[in-house]
Amino acid sequence: MSETQAYLPSAAWQEQAHVKGMAAYQALVAESEADYQGYWARLAREFVTWQTPFTQVLNESNAPFFKWFEDGRLNVSYNCLDRNVERGLGDKVAIIFEADDGAVTKVTYSELLAKTAQLANVLKSRGVKKGDRVVIYMSMSVEGVAAMQACARIGATHSVVFGGFSAQSLRDRVQDAGAVMVITADEQLRGGKALPLKSIVDEALADGSCPTLKDVIVYQRTGGKIGWVEGRDHWLHELLAGQSTVCEPEWVEAEHPLFLLYTSGSTGKPKGVQHSSGGYLLHAALTTKWTFDLKDNDVFWCTADIGWVTGHSYIAYGPLALGGTEIVFEGVPTYPDAGRFWKMIEKHKVSIFYTAPTAIRSLIKAAETSEAVHPARYDLSSLRLLGSVGEPINPAAWEWYHKHVGGGRCPIVDTFWQTETGGHMITPLPGATPLIPGSCTLPFPGITTAIVDETGNDVPNGQGGILVVKKPWPSMIRTIWNDPDRFKKSYYPSELKGYYLAGDGAIRDADTGYFTITGRIDDVLNVSGHRMGTMEIESALVSCTELVAEAAVVGRPDDTTGEAICAFVVLKRPRPTGDEAKVIAKQLRDHVAKEIGPIAKPKDIRFGDNLPKTRSGKIMRRLLRSVAKGEAVTQDTSTLENPAILEQLGQAY
Ligand code: WTA
Repeated sequence: MSETQAYLPSAAWQEQAHVKGMAAYQALVAESEADYQGYWARLAREFVTWQTPFTQVLNESNAPFFKWFEDGRLNVSYNCLDRNVERGLGDKVAIIFEADDGAVTKVTYSELLAKTAQLANVLKSRGVKKGDRVVIYMSMSVEGVAAMQACARIGATHSVVFGGFSAQSLRDRVQDAGAVMVITADEQLRGGKALPLKSIVDEALADGSCPTLKDVIVYQRTGGKIGWVEGRDHWLHELLAGQSTVCEPEWVEAEHPLFLLYTSGSTGKPKGVQHSSGGYLLHAALTTKWTFDLKDNDVFWCTADIGWVTGHSYIAYGPLALGGTEIVFEGVPTYPDAGRFWKMIEKHKVSIFYTAPTAIRSLIKAAETSEAVHPARYDLSSLRLLGSVGEPINPAAWEWYHKHVGGGRCPIVDTFWQTETGGHMITPLPGATPLIPGSCTLPFPGITTAIVDETGNDVPNGQGGILVVKKPWPSMIRTIWNDPDRFKKSYYPSELKGYYLAGDGAIRDADTGYFTITGRIDDVLNVSGHRMGTMEIESALVSCTELVAEAAVVGRPDDTTGEAICAFVVLKRPRPTGDEAKVIAKQLRDHVAKEIGPIAKPKDIRFGDNLPKTRSGKIMRRLLRSVAKGEAVTQDTSTLENPAILEQLGQAY
């Protein structure tokens, strides 16, 4: 990898960015190395307003349950809202909301504060207290963001569940979190269609399966017909009527859990990743400033959903903590056509745009098919910075994004991070880092990522290995809700010398030391930037007990979605072929959608009389991965009990 391939930050970028040039980056890294705790303490004082200042920085006495800024007290909603109003930003637009149909609503900081305070008063009026868990199952809306902020305001711990998850997934999360309330909408509008939310909540809560749950608060979005459980269900607008627009923030300890967010691991059910208040807010704000270079007159747009961590850190918290103006978008990138993103950038003069490689790849395809939705047809001159997140971005997509969206002038920050890390871990800083397409470049200052072997020893650059973080950092996961042992086992396995195990493989370039993520090293798939465990999908398939005897799920590369889900299924009846196979494949996909959500539907379903197993009965997953890819099987199949089935499994439905 030579320097000439790199895109260097322009002189203008190096002069005006918050982190000015590589020397400034290196100075920050040096500061963090010289005095790790002093560095984070300095930033925590600069970025967070504390009601009670902290005197302790990092408490490692109960590692790996680390505590940051332990004796400090703060309120996250105060930091995102009141503080900006007090600074004179009351009339500044906080959120530009664009609805699915294109209608625009602008909300100022004063208005968002009033709305949040009223909503917080609603929660209090229903008896929600500090420490209670509230599940938010909402579409993209100002109300969704305000609901998160309202929880933060009273010290309730929110758990946002993506609106595409099924009733069963929602029930699992409400139960595991022990939630007292669900905040939802009657329906959500996406791509011109009204999709149910409240009826899924009803199904999730039916038969009294969630005994901790007391109230369901419903935001009226469409006015569509919904069911109603007297006493349990309440209209948001009715509860809001007459509530005061003032609500004193609840000052919480820095370690107080701001939220749980369920995500997939390699085994078992999704785990509730628990985040703190102080350390989390610090990193959300800090990375928004340094990675995105957010300035007062920027219009920032992160296209993620609030149901994912990206929507937490870079919609609900980071940009608001800095007093920024951001877009909240209800719809989908392809409605009314695949020019929607470009049209919105033009219309709102978006200057910073953050999206996922899967969206870029599908919009490339669309632009190549129809000139009318090519970014060249829109005025994108307001853009100054682009970002990517969720999965590796392939160099071809990077180059297209750079040239056709960024006009060749906008740096691209390829940000590597995870639900568990709270914010960016490895990323370019736009005024400092020379960019190489396909590499997330260098660690964020203060983040000690490294590549090691199975015993925790450093591997030399140029040689791949396991991605770890050597030292605890402020926005790290605190524990898995209800399962501290699983937290330790998943992230701090004893053989890794106390380093945090990210679950990804990575390699550093021999010359530049730049990181490239090579993909998950566990049984987690990344489909369109969404994380899913192969085991979860397998359990969903075998729960279709009338049909399925056995199932194995692997990922295979896909041009648009990054990875695609491929399921190998043995039925309880003879192996189907032709039309019958197609009908059963559809039945199985629908079943998975019902168990987990449409995002977990397998793209390929392959039927066999059996699965390839060793003589000791272990499913040969490596071999299945080759079959899924359509590769010739080069692995040793001598231990394979029934080699003939390989041919059957070649046919996908
Ligand atoms: C992957 C999303 C390569 C990675 C913020 C990680 C990436 C998982 C990148 C976390 C990137 C995320 N380059 N891979 N820039 N960003 N990943 O928890 O495998 O939904 O472990 O968090 O996505 O997904 P999660």
